[in-house]
Amino acid sequence: MIPNLNIVPFVSVDHMMKLVLKIGVERFLTELASYIEDDFRRWQAFDKTPRVASHSAEGVIELMPTSDGEVYGFKYVNGHPKNMREGRQTVTAFGMLADVHNGYPVLLSEMTILTALRTAAMSALAAKHLAPPGADCMALIGNGAQAEFQALAFKALLGVRKLRFYDIDRAATEKCIRNLAGLGFDMVACATTEEAVEGAGIITTVTADKQYATILTDNMVGSGVHINAVGGDCPGKTELHRDILLRSDIFVEYPPQTRIEGEIQQLAPDHAVTELWQVITGAVPGRRDPAQITLFDSVGFAIEDFSALRYIRDQLISTGLYQELDMLADPDEPRDLFGMLLRAATATKTGHAAL
Ligand SMILES: NC(=O)c1ccc[n+]([C@@H]2O[C@H](COP(=O)([O-])OP(=O)(O)OC[C@H]3O[C@@H](n4cnc5c(N)ncnc54)[C@H](O)[C@@H]3O)[C@@H](O)[C@H]2O)c1
Repeated sequence: MIPNLNIVPFVSVDHMMKLVLKIGVERFLTELASYIEDDFRRWQAFDKTPRVASHSAEGVIELMPTSDGEVYGFKYVNGHPKNMREGRQTVTAFGMLADVHNGYPVLLSEMTILTALRTAAMSALAAKHLAPPGADCMALIGNGAQAEFQALAFKALLGVRKLRFYDIDRAATEKCIRNLAGLGFDMVACATTEEAVEGAGIITTVTADKQYATILTDNMVGSGVHINAVGGDCPGKTELHRDILLRSDIFVEYPPQTRIEGEIQQLAPDHAVTELWQVITGAVPGRRDPAQITLFDSVGFAIEDFSALRYIRDQLISTGLYQELDMLADPDEPRDLFGMLLRAATATKTGHAAL
């Protein structure tokens, strides 16, 4: 553990990048997926609540808390699709862990990069149970900030080597192909979504648009495919035509949140869905037959961020990739908080006059 109890380790964007590069992106994604898997296996141990969302005309800001009774965690995350056009990230995030027994923070971390990694790890973990066995070709619709992470997670966990890209902005596709060059993929830039999904056993949609979009229509989805729908994650923000949902077996993270935010907001509130944690524990089957269309209606749930922060915390000592943050007041006598301020005034030679 971190030796000084009165400092909070802080993982900056710079340290997160160094950590990912030191571990290696694919190993990082694989290890992160196993942390998520472990936490999904002990699903009952967690406090669960749909995230707390504050919507505005142009985006959303959300808080995502959870606790396993020993450690508490939350993530702050936004979603502003118009940001990208203004030179900013659509999604930025930071998060923390705290000790449940005394309430003290034990980790503060950037989570913009970490969210991309955990979302991709979660997608690939779900696909491991749901995608057609041996599927090695994925259509990737939406080639923005999350896209390469998705590609690498599917390579690391499922052996996906063929990628078929489509984005309304050709520059985004070119960026992906440039970034992934030399990493063992066979990549094709497509002119339409229809072309991208041809021959793909897995379809990932990861677009950003603050509206009911129809990225996939029913005719584009053949029998037996697995759909990893990542971009529909807010009320009024979906990617799939409703008819696809009616033909699919739908798997979700936490139904009370997904019914508000996911693709299934388009369906009746009692439409049958399967909770992924039950597939992961083996309580219910994932893919049952080759013709079945499986859909992971991903919205991102607090436990995944908790797992990601837990993974980061476990890397701190061995890598030293953190800063010490002076975030906890530490008077010699706990009740003498004011005295501590007074001593600081004396130390700066201003004494009572400064108060
Ligand atoms: N489910 C989760 O856990 C989770 C986690 C992170 C992000 N997200 C969501 O994933 C989406 C993508 O995030 P990002 O950070 O990559 O955003 P981004 O803005 O960087 O990229 C989005 C891309 O989608 C493209 N696009 C928009 N409309 C399209 C369409 N009709 N067809 C094809 N491409 C289209 C844009 O041109 C852009 O390149 C967002 O909606 C975000 O909210 C979900």
